Amino acid sequence: GELVPWTGRTVPVLSAICARHADGRLRQLEIGSYPSGGAAEAASALNAAVAAYDQGRGPWPTMTAGERIGCMQVFVSRMAKHRDAIAELLMFEIGKSRADSEKEFDRTIDYIRATIEALKALDNENSRFHLVEGTIGQIRRTPLGVVLCMGPYNYPLNETFATLIPALIMGNTVLLKPPRFGALIFDVLLDAFQAAFPKGVVNMVYGPGSEVVPLLLESGQVNALTLIGSSRVADHLKKLHPKVNRLRAILGLDAKNAAIVLPDADIDLAVRECLLGALSFNGQRCTALKMLIVHEQIVETFTRRFVQELDKLVLGMPWHEGVSITPVPDLNKVRYMADLLADAQAHGAQILNRRGGVSAGTLFYPAVVYPVTEAMKLYREEQFGPIVPIMPFADIETALDYVVTSDHGQQVSIFTSSPDEVGRLVDPLVNQVCRVNINCQCQRGPDVFPFTGRKDSAEGTLSVTDALRSFSIRSMIAAKQTEASKA
Ligand code: G3H
Repeated sequence: GELVPWTGRTVPVLSAICARHADGRLRQLEIGSYPSGGAAEAASALNAAVAAYDQGRGPWPTMTAGERIGCMQVFVSRMAKHRDAIAELLMFEIGKSRADSEKEFDRTIDYIRATIEALKALDNENSRFHLVEGTIGQIRRTPLGVVLCMGPYNYPLNETFATLIPALIMGNTVLLKPPRFGALIFDVLLDAFQAAFPKGVVNMVYGPGSEVVPLLLESGQVNALTLIGSSRVADHLKKLHPKVNRLRAILGLDAKNAAIVLPDADIDLAVRECLLGALSFNGQRCTALKMLIVHEQIVETFTRRFVQELDKLVLGMPWHEGVSITPVPDLNKVRYMADLLADAQAHGAQILNRRGGVSAGTLFYPAVVYPVTEAMKLYREEQFGPIVPIMPFADIETALDYVVTSDHGQQVSIFTSSPDEVGRLVDPLVNQVCRVNINCQCQRGPDVFPFTGRKDSAEGTLSVTDALRSFSIRSMIAAKQTEASKA
């Protein structure tokens, strides 16, 4: 809630963009730094959040919804002024194209405004009285307490705010740990946080996650954990809380969404949607298509057209007009992609496109890998990058089995021209994943739709109204009906 001057160690922020140095090597550019906070700073942020919540008695949790909406409107109008600065940081920090960076910003502003409207509707519902069997009840959505928010690097603004904004507006106080890539965008917003919210309501926690996050959770004073990240990290973090069963977790985790392309599919449409689904932002979306399962009758035509369309994609820097494939945020990702390709090739797959897997610094040319089999890492591992695995199938049961036996359960796409096939597949699939997309790619939006997953893919639901519910408890005030209350 207050700006604290920092004189300690800092963590350098490397850009996704590489430059060639005098020695001829490509290296990531250093574009800034953030404070390397430790135990003392994390404890101070935690104490501020706990004190501001004050067991639900603080000024923020006791404000009316209308008053909190007023603060949020101050925040959003201040934030709107930083559109260009934030979009540029997204381009340089995580390598997102200018168009996608601006879209991320605009979509986040829309999300905040939609959340404000949803809260107004929820508050109307709250003010109603219900009379049941002689008892008058009023339901009230009340906050949880202190919420720890951790967003991902691929949507550092949007996905972090998808939890931060509903948590805040419901009256919780928040600890915000920025992602390792995409941390600088929050510097730009510090003044907006400070101007809009009372002291201690929003607290930034900077520093190595492995040091500061355990301290926060082990304190037992965090009431809700939100993480958009890996299932492995989420499992580890939850166990650190002394009352793990009392910790509410709202988690967006690993996914391995598949597209099933039937023999009667419109191939041009399927290719277009699968290309977008697999390679938007270099495949670095939890909703990305990470496995294409194509019927053997059409797999040859499909892969040929897919490669033709892929070859038309522009590879370049985020500020280049019309660019699709941009640098990934660090060299470890490039190494991981290369390892997945080597493993697939060692097990008999081919890279179908000429430049597939070629890299220079953090630029990695997408690779189409075929045929993918169970023996390969790509079969189950979430590549979260520009690799497109394709697997043929003869019998629809094989394709369904891939989805059913997966540890993940976020979304699936099916491509077919037959309404009967849609009817036959939708029911078994919707019991395995949380969204079945018909003749279109997997995606999160429109953001008012529920966004969640089964199995290891999620816990809790994010979207505008669902998120307000996720960050609150349905409490009630009840009284016996009397003659006086009847009157
Ligand atoms: O990474 C997960 C994001 O929520 C995906 O959102 O489908 O709109 O790209 P998107």
